[in-house]
Amino acid sequence: MSATSREIVLGVGAGIAAYKSCDLLRRLQDRGYLITVVPTPSALNFVGASTWEALSGRAVTTQVWENAHHVGHISLANRADYFLIAPATADLIARIAAGRADDLLTNLILASDAPMLVVPAMHPAMWRDPATVANVATLRSRGYVVMEPEVGRLTGSDSGQGRFPHTQSIVMAFDLLTGNLRDLVGVRVLITAGGTREAIDPVRFIGNRSSGKQGLALARAAVLRGADVELIAANMQVDSLHGVEITHVESANDLGQALFARFPHCDVLVMSAAVADARPRHQEREKIKKSQFTSIELEPNPDLLVKLSARKAEQVMIGFAAETNNLRESARAKLTAKDLDIIYVNDVSDGKIFGKDTTQGMILTRHGAEIALKEVSKDALANLLLDHAIRQLG
Ligand code: CTP
Repeated sequence: MSATSREIVLGVGAGIAAYKSCDLLRRLQDRGYLITVVPTPSALNFVGASTWEALSGRAVTTQVWENAHHVGHISLANRADYFLIAPATADLIARIAAGRADDLLTNLILASDAPMLVVPAMHPAMWRDPATVANVATLRSRGYVVMEPEVGRLTGSDSGQGRFPHTQSIVMAFDLLTGNLRDLVGVRVLITAGGTREAIDPVRFIGNRSSGKQGLALARAAVLRGADVELIAANMQVDSLHGVEITHVESANDLGQALFARFPHCDVLVMSAAVADARPRHQEREKIKKSQFTSIELEPNPDLLVKLSARKAEQVMIGFAAETNNLRESARAKLTAKDLDIIYVNDVSDGKIFGKDTTQGMILTRHGAEIALKEVSKDALANLLLDHAIRQLG
């Protein structure tokens, strides 16, 4: 870490997890960072200004009106090398996404160009709410790094995804943000994500339940680790993702074309898209009337991974499998049949995984490693898969 990049603003939102940020502050100080704590006014209900002042050794203010003659919000915004916003409540995330500046913290965030790590913590229902989902997507499209909250027991009797991540995970995410863990610089990562659609007629299609969330998590993680990232997105609602070149496709055929054009130029291929195994033999130009809509004749789509494996040079290839039973055996068979280096098999029984921010399953490698994962965030899986890819890249 250079001496010129160690000023952090630790923004603290009004969540019970604020007390956990006291430990986070300590761990970052251990690493040599100088930290100014800026709580929101209501965050002081959880941890008071004197605690933050004692821990940081610096004055703590929440409003722009205090010491206004110093124009503190601009000088502090200019001085900060990084922002760490932990915990970030649904309201704080909404205010940042809207560009509000109604307290010192949101003023600073608006006035600064520094890299920002946002660590949400809230009730699972608030995390899942479409407003929060949209606000998080907005922040990510603007280059903010937004961590996934962890799954587990909350302050009350409820449990679900919303817990403040462990200090260690936050410090690791912060290291990624600061570039202390840029182990993929110069590596070209090609990711496919989402699910293909095979048109039956202008109205209907054959599709699948893949949301593309795992592919997006992989793209975000690879960018943070310094990779050049291209994403081929099948029917996903993603307009932009900081540092990622996105190509939108619809059918397996479109996906194949985009993939074959880009594959020779990548070092790592992550094939997380769910590709339709078959398509209607005939795509009707006119809508089929219901009286005639009785059966669909199908023809198989080519297996894209099999075709790519036949023409690969040095690429590391990561495949995915979605299974409801015999996870290990099915995944091992696919790893061999498709000549993959790594496969991740999702356990999709009982509606688990699809559309969720968490996953559970098993990583298998060409060299025989088998790592079973209980429920982890898709971000965490993304980083694990990239760790394995780096090992195979040598
Ligand atoms: N895949 C592919 N081309 C296809 C179908 C799948 O490249 N036509 C890729 C997927 O992107 C995934 C892996 O192969 O990375 C496994 O996909 P999956 O659907 O689980 O396996 P299938 O080979 O289709 O086998 P099955 O549906 O019989 O389980």
